[in-house]
Amino acid sequence: MKVAVLGAAGGIGQALSLLLKLDLPAGTDLALYDLAPVTPGVAVDLSHIPTAVKVTGYGKEDLNKALAGADIVMIPAGMPRKPGMDRSDLFNINAGVVKTLAEAIVQQCPKALVGIITNPVNTTVAIAADVFKKAGTYDPRRLFGVTTLDVIRAETFVAELKGKNPAAIKVPVIGGHSGTTILPLLSQVEGVSFTDEEVASLTHRIQNAGTEVVEAKAGGGSATLSMGQAAARFCISLIKGLQGEAVTEYAYVEGNGEHARFFAQPMLLGKNGVEKLLPIGSLSAYEQKAMTDMLGTLKADITLGEEFVKNN
Ligand code: NAD
Ligand code: LMR
Repeated sequence: MKVAVLGAAGGIGQALSLLLKLDLPAGTDLALYDLAPVTPGVAVDLSHIPTAVKVTGYGKEDLNKALAGADIVMIPAGMPRKPGMDRSDLFNINAGVVKTLAEAIVQQCPKALVGIITNPVNTTVAIAADVFKKAGTYDPRRLFGVTTLDVIRAETFVAELKGKNPAAIKVPVIGGHSGTTILPLLSQVEGVSFTDEEVASLTHRIQNAGTEVVEAKAGGGSATLSMGQAAARFCISLIKGLQGEAVTEYAYVEGNGEHARFFAQPMLLGKNGVEKLLPIGSLSAYEQKAMTDMLGTLKADITLGEEFVKNN
């Protein structure tokens, strides 16, 4: 098994690579790629940790080598937000980054499972999908926008509010990955109940948790450590799926188009990536309205990505 991390020298990339070095199955190759000159050094640093995962660093010119034969590609490459910015403000820089990396995936590992972390996720996933489509390699079961951070945040905040162990709380989060497109389904959380005020304030906090971190870091970037953990969890779930274990995760994928072309939803992972899309279940009146209200934004974000590939 080979896992490639693109953007491996960044804040998320380094945290993710550390967790993968610790948690990937023995015998896995971990390939680290980044434009930053420190990348080979990050790989040497990690290689001193005594686990049976072989880490190799690849510099600027070696994208193809990093990707060759990869089974899974995780992409946290690109600019993070600063205070005052929306994720959509990252489009101008990160659209081109994701397009370039997707084109290399087409050449080197067209069957890989690809997890996109680079923001704006609502749009960058559409860019990768349409690059793959143009090349004739697109398989919607193999492309994921990583929204695990929304899920782990929701679980943490609910547990905090209700005095529960976060490990025992499961919160579905559907839609997309920005602002109101992030929709936690608090009505489906088992074992706790919420007042209307709690639903409104928790929903708002989960939707704005990224901004909470961006503001707290005061110009030093966005979530990297919690995202590293979220991405590692998602990557390990992809691995378990490839190994034949049935695992359920939430991610932003192209499904049946009922709500939007791409939509974060529950799914069963398996040997081909998405084995089966699972129903989102029944929504409260509050959640139903929130979903109806945000679909216009989500669809516009997707169209932006589709147009970018069409015009470039
Ligand atoms: P960072 O600046 O710390 O790291 C980004 C890395 O990407 C840098 O090392 C940079 O050299 C590298 N890079 C840039 N262009 C590249 C290219 N073409 N090829 C390879 N590497 C390239 O940023 P970060 O905090 O790690 O965040 C990375 C991205 O992840 C941002 O777009 C951020 O908004 C996004 N993010 C997404 C989520 C999510 O939930 N999906 C959560 C947090 C952050
Ligand atoms: C997050 O949710 O933390 C990320 O999408 C980064 C950001 O810009 O908020």
